[in-house]
Amino acid sequence: MLRQPILLVSRSARFRRLVTSLPLASGLVARYVPGEHTADAVAATAELVRGGLAVTLDHLGEDTTDPGDADATVAAYRDLLSSLAAAGLAHQAEVSVKLSAIGQALPDGDRLALENARIICRAARNVGTTVTLDMEDHTTTDRTLATLRELRMDFPETGAVLQAYLHRTEADCRALAHEGSRVRLCKGAYAEPEEVAFTDRLEVDRAYVRCLKILLAGQGYPMIATHDPRMIQIAASLASRYGRAPRTYEFQMLYGVRPEEQRRLAAAGETVRVYVPYGEQWYGYLTRRLAERPQNLALFLRSLISTR
Ligand code: FDA
Repeated sequence: MLRQPILLVSRSARFRRLVTSLPLASGLVARYVPGEHTADAVAATAELVRGGLAVTLDHLGEDTTDPGDADATVAAYRDLLSSLAAAGLAHQAEVSVKLSAIGQALPDGDRLALENARIICRAARNVGTTVTLDMEDHTTTDRTLATLRELRMDFPETGAVLQAYLHRTEADCRALAHEGSRVRLCKGAYAEPEEVAFTDRLEVDRAYVRCLKILLAGQGYPMIATHDPRMIQIAASLASRYGRAPRTYEFQMLYGVRPEEQRRLAAAGETVRVYVPYGEQWYGYLTRRLAERPQNLALFLRSLISTR
């Protein structure tokens, strides 16, 4: 019930100033973001890999309106990928990229984002890993999927996220359930209007299950991104119903969310990948995590009081 209001309040400049006054080390931020620098991201990856988990890393940033920032993001991914390779971690860690962080929102943004994404895909391939395109609000879905199609011509290993809450997503799942396709299925984290998205939790869950069926019955590699115990249980039984062998699909969860469940699934023989965001621009990411779990508001308020 609080999800949409929190996402709307997060657009206010005052709220943004208040939240970004929190030091990274404060309880709430540190729970979801292991640090601001490449070294922090590599250290978090090493620890997760030691615990039997795979990783995908996101250099935080979105809605870039300055071409220099887009270039800096590309440079950050290149630095990250070579650091992962130097640490011997590139085979267990891939990267997740938001096209709006590498130029999609700029003039001629589709061309720029595609060029930048190509640079990151090449750097990933050179160290033996892959890229998955994150999915942002619904106004960007068509453009992101068009960029995915272009990228896959040269880098067919590139994956993408689909959001079950969008009415269109079952059709997108069907289109992407082919051999060689990697699809990360999540519920969806943005404040979307009911013209394009299910807004009732139960309806979102039903849509998630319909999409799971399409992806698990298909020929691609489904990446099941959820912390919801019911969705995880349903996914596991559908995987067995469709005769999916281990390693032909994987579970994914966010850094700091249900870590004991991440370890439990990995110990049971499932592939589990943890999404690790890092960098200075954690505001948008953090407010979406707050909106998903309004109980976090208490932790957030405590962080504010203890830093004042
Ligand atoms: P749900 O929100 O119903 O949560 C189920 C349970 O998980 C909760 O009851 C709670 O126990 C726990 N939980 C969930 N969120 C929590 C939180 N923030 N803090 C603490 N506990 C929490 N979205 C998007 O729009 N575009 C994208 O590209 C991505 N990418 C992405 C990658 C990966 C790997 C994951 C796991 C998720 C995303 N998401 C995303 C976010 C996704 O859309 C969704 O908002 C969250 O995963 C929460 O939804 P759940 O499926 O976990 O269910």
